[in-house]
Amino acid sequence: MKIRKAVFPAAGLGTRFLPVTKAIPKEMLPLVDTPLIQYCVEEAIASGIEDVIIITGRGKTAIEDHFDTSKELEVLLEEKGKTDLLKMVRDISNLVRFSYTRQKEALGLGHAILCAKDLVGEEPFAVFLGDDIIDSKVPAMKQMTEVYKKYRHSVLAVQRVPRENISSYGVIKGTAAGNHLFEVTDLVEKPRPEDAPSDLAVIGRYILTPDVFEYLENTRPGKNGEIQLTDALKAMAGRHPIYALEFEGDRYDAGDKLGFLKATVSLALKRDDLRDEFVEFLKGLKL
Ligand code: UTP
Repeated sequence: MKIRKAVFPAAGLGTRFLPVTKAIPKEMLPLVDTPLIQYCVEEAIASGIEDVIIITGRGKTAIEDHFDTSKELEVLLEEKGKTDLLKMVRDISNLVRFSYTRQKEALGLGHAILCAKDLVGEEPFAVFLGDDIIDSKVPAMKQMTEVYKKYRHSVLAVQRVPRENISSYGVIKGTAAGNHLFEVTDLVEKPRPEDAPSDLAVIGRYILTPDVFEYLENTRPGKNGEIQLTDALKAMAGRHPIYALEFEGDRYDAGDKLGFLKATVSLALKRDDLRDEFVEFLKGLKL
């Protein structure tokens, strides 16, 4: 079955990015001029996704407004003859089919995904975490759907991370199953470096089979008192094959201040309209 639906959990509180996230959803922070979540939605579309399901929470209505039509703005741009901007604004609201559901309380990523159970139904689906921005030739999710097509089991995106940083991630234990591919035998959420089963950290892209909902329903609060997706996947790994793909591409943790700055600079340097002047500016910095 084709991966048609993607779930975007966006109900987290974004505490690593306070104070800006007090009133502005983290997902709406811009890299140059485009909100984080739009980069991920564009990756989803380029990977064949037809339905985007966004899990929102209190204070997140800016996300819905962003992907909705904005008649007032469109009329204004039309009157002023700003056709390029008009097209850009219209294109955003016509990107794909959106639906929204709310997570009433931030009870964890696993709980947020469970909120999408009815909208997803009985089919495999993709999950995108909006803070992870992946810049790659072939969209990261497309690389993962290729693996899914072959094996028809859940697929996690993984990346090698230095040991000293491993305790910020879910980490897999796996056996080699092909080119940059592993079969997952166990997962640990945020291990201490000495306890990490490998240096392969789970990044914010997943393809999950619908069995995951049953495991999420049976998952008790874990680290930080949250219902963790990693714990559900750990239970699932014993009974259903789960694959992990070391994807090709540069990944930025834009939910973290330093990661956000790195992503901003890298993406700005790729923009024809900004590159030359920006390079001049950077060269002139006395570091
Ligand atoms: P994070 O832990 O990265 O996001 O969760 P956060 O909680 O918003 O940010 P910090 O750590 O406090 O700075 C990973 C993803 O899961 C979503 C977040 O929105 C983010 O996309 N999430 C997390 C939910 O949707 N609900 C939750 O209860 C927790």
